[in-house]
Amino acid sequence: MFGFLTVRAQEILQKTYGVRDIEIAWLSPRESMRGDASTSIALSLAKKLGKNPQEIAQALAEKLSGLSEVEHAEVAGAGYVNVYLKPAALLQELLSSREAQAKKLTEQKKKEQKIVIDYSHPNIAKPLGVHHLLSTIVGQAIANINRNAGFTVVGVNHIGDWGTQFGKLAIAFDRWGTKPIDQYSLDELLALYVKFHEEAEKDSTLEDAAREAFRNLEQGQKDLRAFWQTVVNITMQSMQRPYERLHVSFDLIQGESFYEDKMAPILEEGKKKKLFTVGKEGALIVEFPEETNLPPAIVLKADGSTIYFTRDLATARYRIDTWHPIEILYVVDVAQQQYFQQLFATLKLLKWELPVMEHVIFGRMSFVDRQMSTRKGNILKLEEVLDEAVTRAGKVIAEHRESIQTDDETALAEMMGVGAVAYGILSQNRKMDMVFDWEKFLSFEGNSAPYLQYTHARACSVLRKADATERRAFPDDIAVLAETERLLLKTLLLFPSVLDDARETRMPHKLANYLFQLCQDFNAFYNKEPILKAEEEQRNFRLTLTQEMAEVLRTGAELLTLRLPDRM
Ligand code: ARG
Repeated sequence: MFGFLTVRAQEILQKTYGVRDIEIAWLSPRESMRGDASTSIALSLAKKLGKNPQEIAQALAEKLSGLSEVEHAEVAGAGYVNVYLKPAALLQELLSSREAQAKKLTEQKKKEQKIVIDYSHPNIAKPLGVHHLLSTIVGQAIANINRNAGFTVVGVNHIGDWGTQFGKLAIAFDRWGTKPIDQYSLDELLALYVKFHEEAEKDSTLEDAAREAFRNLEQGQKDLRAFWQTVVNITMQSMQRPYERLHVSFDLIQGESFYEDKMAPILEEGKKKKLFTVGKEGALIVEFPEETNLPPAIVLKADGSTIYFTRDLATARYRIDTWHPIEILYVVDVAQQQYFQQLFATLKLLKWELPVMEHVIFGRMSFVDRQMSTRKGNILKLEEVLDEAVTRAGKVIAEHRESIQTDDETALAEMMGVGAVAYGILSQNRKMDMVFDWEKFLSFEGNSAPYLQYTHARACSVLRKADATERRAFPDDIAVLAETERLLLKTLLLFPSVLDDARETRMPHKLANYLFQLCQDFNAFYNKEPILKAEEEQRNFRLTLTQEMAEVLRTGAELLTLRLPDRM
């Protein structure tokens, strides 16, 4: 940011102190008391030169004050230099930062760097539960943000479509099935699965039968294969709709079964390298260097069957060979933290050439609604939660009918309800435990989907009333900037760096916080300054500001899977 200031400041410092090309970072403080751009370069330079920071800051501020772009510059605190820019310079900065962003995007795209993101990954034969929201939504947001930055994202749904649970289901269907498998709904499949566990408590032979069935499936027994395929199809079919509602989509659905024939070579390699050894109980295990503090991991069970871990080894190999990605991100529950440490440690021991691999963790979700947290039975289904959100949004809309205008209440309720849930989660720091709170999620105040949606609709309404069809552009200069205008401009300026930060840290809530700030700044401006009734020059400027705000808000919200209405 503020590249022109950097160039000028470098010139000044070179002339005065003979230092060349020193790096200067500018902060864009929001508090107008601290100017539009602020730097601590005098402090670090003073240390280097053994001089008084105040003196360097003073010299810098004095010279910067003389620049045509600068209103004035002053020394603050221990040796900070705060610069107050002329309106034209701020406008120019917005333009050049956009240009820089566009150029960066083109260059990034040219590189065709790939990032594999593994998210959502439910286990088959169970409906999506509310807990799947976290990986699904956080993963999708991270995928969107990376794609928007010019990376080629391979979004993979690594479904749990392999393992002994299929043996259990096959046995349950065999014993208690009442109709052909393809006529089963997902709920009925779940009921079969639950029944298996109930019965298995009384009859221990069932577990053995299930293991046997899975072994037969692994060995390719035809009818078991067909059974398995049908179950996978039923599950994926029924997940389509909730995914669509959430604006979630994958480049590939490649579950654990996909790696079935890709594990043997890796097991061989590990054995040859003497990394995989037979443990006490006959299983093949891998042990880790002492400093890692990791317990050994099982690679192959004593009975020769592969497990989740084995498949993840093959998965990593396949992804590296297929896409040569620069990063592989696993958006998975923090409960699997040690598991991923073991996985990554094993890959390192295998001495493969690895991209950046990261377990993108997220915390637990708790519910303010007691009914949700104490709910009996196994899963709180995602679809039910989304439906309830939409019902609640419908009520909110009805309550505000006087101030809400819409031609389609049903569509708005869907947008608001689903958005409230998704945004409610994405606006929280994923590394902390998250709180599911209907009140907060559906509130019109605070950092919520309805607040963003309402603000966007408000901006669109102003633009509609201005009745201009062409896109507006900022003027080269404007005589004065009102306080709220200046603040809004400065917040708009921050968008590219916020996107970078959210991407690099893989923290979508940073973008959400920014959008909330943007809305607050816009609303403060809207409440304080007349837009449509301002005189010509100002009217144009304010309408452009409104249009830019709406565009940034929409772009940002969509990266977070949130849709915004033009009217509401
Ligand atoms: N299906 C797994 C589970 O529900 C998560 C899969 C995560 N991805 C992976 N490559 N291990 O626990």
